[in-house]
Amino acid sequence: MEVNNGEQFNLTPGHIVEELDRYIIGQSKAKRSCAIALRNRWRRQQVEPELRDEILPKNIIMIGPTGVGKTEIARRLSKLAGAPFIKVEASKFTEVGYVGRDVDSMVRDLVEMGITLVKEEEELRVQENAKVNAEEKLLDLLLPPVVPTQTREVEPEGDTQERRKATREKLRKLLKAGSLDERQVEIETSDNSQPFVEIFSPAGMEEMGINFKEMFGGMSKTKKRRVTVPEALEILIKQEAAKLIDIDRVQKDAISRVENHGIVFLDEIDKIAGRESARGPDVSREGVQRDLLPIIEGSTVMTKHGPVKTDHILFIAAGAFHVSKPNDLIPEIQGRFPIRVELDDLGEEEFYRILTEPKNALLRQYSALLSTEGVVLEFDDGAVKKIASIGANLNRTHENIGARRLHTVMEALLDELSFSAPERVGEKVTVDVEYVENRLKPILESEDLSKYIL
Ligand SMILES: Nc1ncnc2c1ncn2[C@@H]1O[C@H](COP(=O)(O)OP(=O)(O)OP(=O)(O)O)[C@@H](O)[C@H]1O
Ligand SMILES: [Mg+2]
Repeated sequence: MEVNNGEQFNLTPGHIVEELDRYIIGQSKAKRSCAIALRNRWRRQQVEPELRDEILPKNIIMIGPTGVGKTEIARRLSKLAGAPFIKVEASKFTEVGYVGRDVDSMVRDLVEMGITLVKEEEELRVQENAKVNAEEKLLDLLLPPVVPTQTREVEPEGDTQERRKATREKLRKLLKAGSLDERQVEIETSDNSQPFVEIFSPAGMEEMGINFKEMFGGMSKTKKRRVTVPEALEILIKQEAAKLIDIDRVQKDAISRVENHGIVFLDEIDKIAGRESARGPDVSREGVQRDLLPIIEGSTVMTKHGPVKTDHILFIAAGAFHVSKPNDLIPEIQGRFPIRVELDDLGEEEFYRILTEPKNALLRQYSALLSTEGVVLEFDDGAVKKIASIGANLNRTHENIGARRLHTVMEALLDELSFSAPERVGEKVTVDVEYVENRLKPILESEDLSKYIL
């Protein structure tokens, strides 16, 4: 069951884990903790206001090496919760040029995500009506214009109307049957293609709610284009849908969606961990934590769509924590991330499952890609085991890059086929153990090659 229709906001932890299991292999502790964090937010929202303000937000820190599913879990979680989601590298706030207030930008970005999300939902909701309206508009375009009759009384008015109506219905039938697909019509489209030069708002304008792009966008004109009937229908459906959507409501809904369901994924949080010390960089790290604090505690950020309260935004932080530890974060931040969970290293067994089990499993992706070339690609079980074992081995002998290793191995394995596929239409390729060995052995045997390719 797909649950991103924005209505299933009160998913139970059990249900959340079940859904995450469909995409992410293992990491059951992390899934569990994320489910709890999400549910805690919902619980806090249900508590009467007085007490609610006393309850600290229960955010989560995921600790784990690269490529084991941290980002993936957060992303899937937000998707199934219908939540606006952004991923921010915490370390970017320590870069030169970023100063204090810039942390607000992540809330503004989150609102943009919220707007897109709500707009898409609205478009889906009005789709049927938009289709009906678009069809009428298209028939208006297809029906030859009324020729102003100079000599009156050639035909009585009513008769003309009747005939036009009949023609219109005939056209409608043809349209539905696809018989008009070759025909062209002239259609007005709003020419809101971006200007050639990307417009950057001067710093500070965004906060004041001034959007330069929109100011310039307002000057865009409509433009006539000749397109085929199916293209016209598509454009008209979009135009009609836009008319049916109340943009003010979208804005309001998006802000409320962000306030109550938004998720910010704060990546590389370990890079800003570190208390004040005599040395320079640590001060700036602590500074970033202090800047983040008000947003995490709950404050109001001005955006061009209106003020946004951050009290209930869920923060999921992640980091490898090789050098620093979560308790190197300032106490106030630690207090707001009480849920901590370590992710497991992925081994051969997990790799095998990652290759085959998820709905979007890597092997399925490759088969789908090659089927577009008319090549049938299959993997025999032994080969999959071999790929998993090679991947796990490489992570042991080279750098451990987690599941990302599977991508490099698969690319190398299928390199030849990916290149020649267009000339192999109609072929069926079965990848077996021998195929894997033939392809990968030469690379594996050369230390230098494997460093670069795998
Ligand atoms: N447990 C897993 N199950 C299925 N796929 C996984 C798993 N772990 C990682 N992957 C896949 O590996 C890739 C990298 O995962 P992800 O982006 O979640 O890594 P990460 O833990 O956030 O690493 P980093 O610390 O480098 O950001 C993604 O394509 C993801 O789908
Ligand atoms: Mg990540």
